[in-house]
Amino acid sequence: VEWRRGDYTISDDPSRLDRDAIHRFLAASYWAAGIPREVADRSIDHAFPFGIYESAGGGRQVGFARIITDYATFAYVSDVFVLDEHRGRGLARWLMETILAHPRLQGLRRWVLVTRDAQELYRRVGFGDIEDPKRYMEIVRRDVYVRR
Ligand SMILES: CC(C)(COP(=O)(O)OP(=O)(O)OC[C@H]1O[C@@H](n2cnc3c(N)ncnc32)[C@H](O)[C@@H]1OP(=O)(O)O)[C@@H](O)C(=O)NCCC(=O)NCCS
Repeated sequence: VEWRRGDYTISDDPSRLDRDAIHRFLAASYWAAGIPREVADRSIDHAFPFGIYESAGGGRQVGFARIITDYATFAYVSDVFVLDEHRGRGLARWLMETILAHPRLQGLRRWVLVTRDAQELYRRVGFGDIEDPKRYMEIVRRDVYVRR
């Protein structure tokens, strides 16, 4: 499926993704620093990935997100980014709205995400703080990619 707005297109077609560009961004990001290419590829293969593309020219990919989901009850929003030159134009917000309205992602009981500083972006599309942090538990291996 494709959505168009102004100079940009959102697509949920995995074959359109620029996996080199995605890996380049993620490997330099604060949350997935050093992620190996093979791990990034596998993470995309087993998730529901979305790309934002320039509508004109070569249709260069400028944004990304992938949803880890069972398509029935739960979704985890991951690896959201918009390339620097394209930020501040509402692209991330449009991407999140598109994802939340996607026909394959309706009726889920819970949407979750983790972010260091983009809380306001997600608040705009309906996310709120965790009501009771005591109920949330996790195992985090921050150095998992670097240790390999
Ligand atoms: C975070 C990011 C995806 C936002 O992309 P963007 O396309 O510039 O965001 P938008 O233009 O759609 O912003 C939508 C709204 O969220 C707000 N917002 C966006 N990023 C924000 C941030 N980091 N902190 C606070 N507010 C933010 C904007 O001010 C805007 O508010 P408005 O609707 O009142 O104008 C982009 O800055 C990015 O890729 N950052 C680096 C990677 C990253 O941190 N990703 C998030 C990981 S969870």
